[in-house]
Amino acid sequence: MPYYPEEVIEEVRSRTDIVDVISKYVNLQKKGSQYFGLCPFHNEKTGSFSVSPQKQMYYCFGCGAGGNAFSFLMNYENMTFKEAVEELANQCGVSLPQREMTAQERRTADRRSRLFEINKEAAGYYYKLLRSPGGEQAMAYFTKRGLTPETLHKFGLGCTSKYSDSLYKYLREKGYDDDILKDCGLITIDEKRGGHDKFWNRAMFPIFDANGKVVAFGGRVMGDGEPKYLNSPETEIFNKSRTLFGLYFARKTRREQFILCEGYMDVISLHQAGFDNAVASLGTALTEGHAGMLKRYVKDVYLSYDSDGAGQKAALRAIPILKRAGISCRIINMNPYKDPDEFIKNLGAEEYEKRIQNAENSFMYQIRMLQNNYDLTDPEKKSDFQKEAARMIVLEFPTQLERENYTEAVASRFNIPKDALAKYIIELGSSGITAKKDDQTHETRIKSAKAKDDGMKISQRLLITWLVEEPSIYSKISKYVTPDDFEDGVYKKVASEVFNYCQSNQPVDTARIVDLFMEEEERKTVAALFNTTVGELTNNSDLSKALKETLLRIKKNSLELSKKNGADFKSTITGAKMLQELERANISI
Ligand code: GTP
Ligand code: MN
Repeated sequence: MPYYPEEVIEEVRSRTDIVDVISKYVNLQKKGSQYFGLCPFHNEKTGSFSVSPQKQMYYCFGCGAGGNAFSFLMNYENMTFKEAVEELANQCGVSLPQREMTAQERRTADRRSRLFEINKEAAGYYYKLLRSPGGEQAMAYFTKRGLTPETLHKFGLGCTSKYSDSLYKYLREKGYDDDILKDCGLITIDEKRGGHDKFWNRAMFPIFDANGKVVAFGGRVMGDGEPKYLNSPETEIFNKSRTLFGLYFARKTRREQFILCEGYMDVISLHQAGFDNAVASLGTALTEGHAGMLKRYVKDVYLSYDSDGAGQKAALRAIPILKRAGISCRIINMNPYKDPDEFIKNLGAEEYEKRIQNAENSFMYQIRMLQNNYDLTDPEKKSDFQKEAARMIVLEFPTQLERENYTEAVASRFNIPKDALAKYIIELGSSGITAKKDDQTHETRIKSAKAKDDGMKISQRLLITWLVEEPSIYSKISKYVTPDDFEDGVYKKVASEVFNYCQSNQPVDTARIVDLFMEEEERKTVAALFNTTVGELTNNSDLSKALKETLLRIKKNSLELSKKNGADFKSTITGAKMLQELERANISI
């Protein structure tokens, strides 16, 4: 249920200009009837982000982000719908009705935004504590680890007190009740003992989401002790496998590569040394979710994992996950130090920069790690290694070209007789071993799925956009096509809205239609749908022809579908008749 009445939301929507709203965050340039800029939701060098003042919508051709002014604030500022309405009402001078919340509303309204508030309060509390007499021990710890005051400030570092309920008391005083505190990830509520802090006697690292809001914490024991790090559990606002420490800063660099490391301290040290594109997954191994997040910003990643056995294993696990997401990676060699933090402390930033320049191709790294498992002084083991390397080349690379290039590189790097290796690879290839079927990257899989989907839906999108831009065609098409001919779900719902506007001779309020959809993914679909272009069709006869073809495709598709779904005989006949009529019709615009 929307919190404010629909008329009020309508008022805010109609008084808001999306170009003004987005201009506060993105540098927009006018081209034709649209504005363009660099997309704030993914890293890019050329502007694929468009804003349409006519439709009061934005859409990114690069990453698919899209919606209206409300959804922009919801995504960019992590606001709830209600907050976005309040923000824009405030900006355009609409006063919102004030009313007392009922108990029920108070309970259900905006848990997420209160969880954000609580985490922010907690971060402020820990931050102040670190700078008070009670924080001396933690301050000494951070200083010993070489962090400057600027770094402490930038990362919002703090500490807990040595009492086990001081944050709990603080938050209760701020007016938060147990019902929400039990879900914020920082407090345990126990029936017998009451509320207690999950973190105490620890140095605290706030974890920001991509927009700089605190969503969780990592807490480190000062000195030795177990567990070394404690992290907030997952909550409604903290999804571990989609959160990267340092991402908020790294994305703002707009660099084309990120450095991916393992720990909080690694990220912080790297940023302090000027490598402000460093990020880390937290307390969990890298997941597909992380890789997906990374892919939104960069295509290349430098892995800077620990150089010990565990770090090597983690790197070997991460490489294929990154590859599947369409990210290529290189591995930074940190020898003789354990991690980037130690490395920088001992050899400095310049030396680290050299290591970046010399980072190793991920496949060569995989082969080198493989080699460590074999005793090369034993000719049998040596042959086993070489055969396995050959198999990996065949499995990894589908094209002749790549196979030859890698054969040459691997042969020379690992002292394998090149001709023999090449011959063995050809034998393997002809014995039926090939690159895995899933050698398609995640990205190309998505692309091919999209292509099919496009074939089916593009006509529907085209017709909807067309109606919005040229409502005069409505009278010519309404006889043949109805919203029922559109695909179930978002398409049908949007079509029925658009048809209603046309029927009552009103301009289509695209931005209102976006708000009929609660889910982020749905809003994106709506934005994409309204951003289909009628193409380069210039003269009227082309347009008429294109329109008729579009109608035919939609009608045929819907007829086929309804047959498949067991439509009754009568409606099948009626549909077929209508199709025939459409085929003969002379539609001109
Ligand atoms: P320092 O010892 O302070 O330099 O830590 P680090 O950041 O180098 O951490 P380390 O390489 O030991 O571990 C990498 C990351 O794994 C840490 O930053 C944490 O996110 C996580 N981690 C390490 N130890 C623990 C633990 O005991 N529990 C949990 N949940 N996570 C841990
Ligand atoms: Mn470390």
